[in-house]
Formats: sequence, structure tokens, C-alpha cells
Amino acid sequence: MSLLLSPYTLRDVTLRNRLVVSPMCQYSARHGVANDWHFAHLARFALGGFGAVMVEATGVAPQGRITYPCLGLWEDAQIAPLARIAAFLKSQGAAAAIQLGHAGRKASTPLWWRGGFTEREDEKASVGFEHWQPVGPSALAQMDHPDYQTPRTLTLAEVQALPDQFAKAVARADRAGFDIVELHGAHGYLINQFLSPIANQRTDAYGGSRENRMRLVLEIIEASRAVWPAGKPLFLRLSVQDALPGGWSVADTLVLSAQARALGVDVIDCSSGGFAGAAITPAPGYQMPLAKAVRDSGVATMAVGLITTPAQAEAALTSGSADLVALGRTALDDPNFPLHAAAALGDSVDHWPKQAGFAVRLRDAALARAALAK
Ligand SMILES: Cc1cc2nc3c(=O)[nH]c(=O)nc-3n(C[C@H](O)[C@H](O)[C@H](O)COP(=O)(O)O)c2cc1C
Repeated sequence: MSLLLSPYTLRDVTLRNRLVVSPMCQYSARHGVANDWHFAHLARFALGGFGAVMVEATGVAPQGRITYPCLGLWEDAQIAPLARIAAFLKSQGAAAAIQLGHAGRKASTPLWWRGGFTEREDEKASVGFEHWQPVGPSALAQMDHPDYQTPRTLTLAEVQALPDQFAKAVARADRAGFDIVELHGAHGYLINQFLSPIANQRTDAYGGSRENRMRLVLEIIEASRAVWPAGKPLFLRLSVQDALPGGWSVADTLVLSAQARALGVDVIDCSSGGFAGAAITPAPGYQMPLAKAVRDSGVATMAVGLITTPAQAEAALTSGSADLVALGRTALDDPNFPLHAAAALGDSVDHWPKQAGFAVRLRDAALARAALAK
């Protein structure tokens, strides 16, 4: 039996295998509310046998959305459609996970596929167009580019209110029935902005020393854990390194991971980058060494980034780099990846939905008979 396809238990939640769908923005919501697109997009991964399926970066505040059609969980009206999704994922044997975040200065950016704010006046109402000035630790823009604005500096009182904002969204995720919450601390979004001296030039208790820059995320973890049931796992996605001179480093992550773990974070989801000019060249498994560095320090990790084959995913586990493997684009390309991985790795485990599994088995048997008859 492969490690990849064997169950993994965190607190009271047992994943049927170690393959997780990485959070992926769909830019398809109106006022942060999930709809049938989100249901269908996520449901197919549960049908495809993933151990856990994670909902995209979901804003804890309206101004924390990356784009205007990103999901939100800042008000109770946003719970019901997410609850429907969570219930279906679980009914198909997958754990239901959701990533909660705040984009900070990288909020209110254009949709990827539009290549800029190309919404025409006559379509703005129908697509739910909104545009707002983002907030950040300091009045520093991500880069000098029309996609990004200079943020308004958060006041001390506003920074101190953030942990409660996160906690309220976490409590709503619990009411929606999710099994796992991941806090988004990566990719140059708000938490990452506070961690990194590149974006954080505050002179109060939330800026300056590493201890001060880590204060916000640690307070968010504490506030989240206080409302998130003890039996449910809490993940933290980090950019393990900014990969920029003077930026957040692997050594910084090791200090933060240990403190996060002590406060009840179960898994560090190990990504990287997010600030302009980062020295990162995506290649197969390019972030795996980052997951290994964190795991070697004694904290469970999830590896992510250009993991595209069952053998590579299995090696991430057997090499001791990670406890879980997250797939983004590979899952989009093959929502049945776990089912195919089981066959490729020679595992007898069969997570095909009954409605489809018998038919696929009959097809395979017919193909085998035809091959024998040759
Ligand atoms: C369409 C798309 C949307 C994404 N949205 C998010 C997101 O909401 N939150 C996040 O942390 N990462 C997001 N990512 C990054 C992925 O979760 C993943 O870390 C990255 O794509 C690398 O993994 P991959 O090579 O398997 O795609 C997104 C990636 C893609 C392709």
C-alpha cells in the first residue's frame, strides 16, 4: 500500500488519503457568495477521490477579497451555499476544507483571465464589479503597475481588530460544516505583508523586529483556535521564503512554525513567493525542499507546487518532505487524479463513486479480455 493512498489522521479528522486539492480562486462569486460554479468545481474533486478538498481563498472582510468576485465569509448570509458544498464533499468521503484570508494591499486586483480592468460600463452591474482602495501594513504598493494600488495604512486599532475578523469567519466555517480551516499567510497577502520587512515598515508593536512582525499572525492563530473546535485541524499556508534580499526567509519560517504549532496549528502548507521580483523558478517539485526544511524542524507539512505524477507525490511522502500533498493545476487537469494514482501505484483501494466505479471496472475487464484474446 502506498503512503499516498493510505489514510492520515489529524485530531478527530481522518483523511482517506494524503492528496489534498490546493485552494484555487475561481473569480466567480457575487458579493462573496458561492454558487453552482463553486459547487461543481469542488464536487468533482470529491468524486475523484481526494482526501480533502479546499475551497479557494475566502475573504474575512469585503476589502480583503483578492478580486471583487472572490468568495467571502464575513457575514452569515454567505454560510448556506458553502454549507451545501461542505456537506456534499463529506457525503463523498472527502474532508471539507476552506482557506480564509485577507489580501491586504493585493486586494481589488483584476481577474487573471481579463488581463486588467477591462469590464465595460454596460457589464459592470451584471458581473458585480466593485473596486476599492486596499489596506496594508504600510502605504507601499506591491509594484508600480496599474493592477496594484497604494494601500491605506491600517491604523493600530484596525490591526488589533483583524484577529477577531478572522475568528468570526472561522466560526462561520465551523457552522458551515467544514472539517479543516487553513489561514492564508502566503503569496504576499496581508499576513505575509506583515511578516515581511518588504511590505511592513510599521513602527508600532506590529512592525520592526521579527517578533513584532509575527505578532499579527500569532494573534490570528490564537483567536481562530479559540473558536475552532479542538477536534478540527488548523492549517497555515506560508510563503516559506520571499526569495528576495531582506525578505522573509526559511530561518524565519522555522521560528514561526514552532510558535504556530504551539498555538494549535497542525500543518504548515509550504508555498513561497508573492512579492514582485522574487527569485523563484517553477520546476517539478520546486517547493519540496521548503516543506522538508519545515518538517525536519518537527512540524507536519503539506507540499505543493508542480507535483504532477503519482510517483512524485508518493516520493514527497516517503522522502520525509511532507505529510500531505496538495495539487492545484494538476487537479484541474485531472480531477480523478487519486483514482488514477491508485491504479498507477498498484493499490487496491477503490474510491470510485458507486455510480461510476462498476462501469469503469467493466470497461477495464473488457479491455483485459480483448488483450488476452489477441
Ligand atoms: C487558478 C488558481 C487559483 C489559485 N488560487 C489560490 C488561492 O485561492 N489560495 C492560495 O493559497 N493559492 C492559490 N493558488 C495557488 C495554488 O494553490 C498552488 O499553490 C499553486 O498553483 C502551485 O501548485 P500547482 O503547481 O499544483 O498548481 C492558485 C493557483 C491557481 C492555478
